Amino acid sequence: RNAIGVQTASDASINGDREEHDLCNWDELKFSLIPTDYMYVMKCSSGEGAFSQGHLTRYGNVELSPSSGVLNYGQGLLEGLKAYRGADNRIRLFRPEQNALRMQMGAERMCMPSPTAEQFVGSIKQTALANKRWVPPSGKGSLYIRPLLLGTGAILGVAPSPEYTFLAYASPVGNYFTVSLGSMHFSVEDKVYRAIPGGTGGIKSITNYSPIYKAVTQAKAKGFTDVIFLDAATGKYIEEATACNIFVAKGNVISTPPIAGTILPGITRKTIIEVASWLGYQIEERAIPLEELMNADEAFCTGTAIAIKPVGSVTYQGQRVEYKTGEGTLSETLFRTLTGIQTGRIEDTMGWIVEI
Ligand code: COI
Repeated sequence: RNAIGVQTASDASINGDREEHDLCNWDELKFSLIPTDYMYVMKCSSGEGAFSQGHLTRYGNVELSPSSGVLNYGQGLLEGLKAYRGADNRIRLFRPEQNALRMQMGAERMCMPSPTAEQFVGSIKQTALANKRWVPPSGKGSLYIRPLLLGTGAILGVAPSPEYTFLAYASPVGNYFTVSLGSMHFSVEDKVYRAIPGGTGGIKSITNYSPIYKAVTQAKAKGFTDVIFLDAATGKYIEEATACNIFVAKGNVISTPPIAGTILPGITRKTIIEVASWLGYQIEERAIPLEELMNADEAFCTGTAIAIKPVGSVTYQGQRVEYKTGEGTLSETLFRTLTGIQTGRIEDTMGWIVEI
């Protein structure tokens, strides 16, 4: 165990010195954890106000005080970004500074200090490089990097933690949704709400996810892939799904709910808005009544973990509507463009790519 309480795995860890090609079955990657070699850790103690002495350490368990802010009161944020191996074998990160900015915004809301953008991006580069052999071959998946910002200091009273830990670990992944194209069937949830005005729905707080497990588990038990949440204030407008933003398309117009506190400002969402407008589509960020979703030509979801995936059907109170998916759809064009830039197949003219 080292000074920051990280239990270090021995070099003779489960995967030892195995070669890249037989690390795991690259053809069967899902969105589930495959432990990799290293993680990055950085601390900020009370009084310091700034993070320092970040370093790589072997991937392993983290020791926490039973009274830490994150365990007792959920003072924590998560991020998610990917390293992609292109057909040219080069490894690219996509807009990592956007994750840094989003973490800073979330930290401000959760009364936490945050790493600078430079520290954040530097730590992600180091994590990706140290786990390079885990970046799947081109076309097989990507290396998902999960940064966390946690209140790790001991605190019994309900107040900000006296010490914070930034941590980034990685896992090779396939798509978040393993269902085939056209088979994403969503239900609309009208009893449980994901976010409330003034709450934390607009940041990546770790507390945003488990409160919706029950609704999602129940929907899955009925055969749905995921659920779409409605706005808590009126119950009339669509917001987002469990772990992704949602877009609807009718004709040449693509719409998505606006960033106004209850919608997660997705980096893929932001990118799709930019890419779609270059491609000549009309893009609208505005409140979308549920009826509009039920009358759309296409619906699709975006997120780091899922990229872009078309929704096959939506069911609301027993009424089911189906959407166009596959060849010739708008979401397919956007998918090809987005993944083309991420993997180097399409030239990055925006400075979005950080090669490692
Ligand atoms: C991502 O797309 O990276 C997310 O953060 C969603 C996640 C909670 C799986």
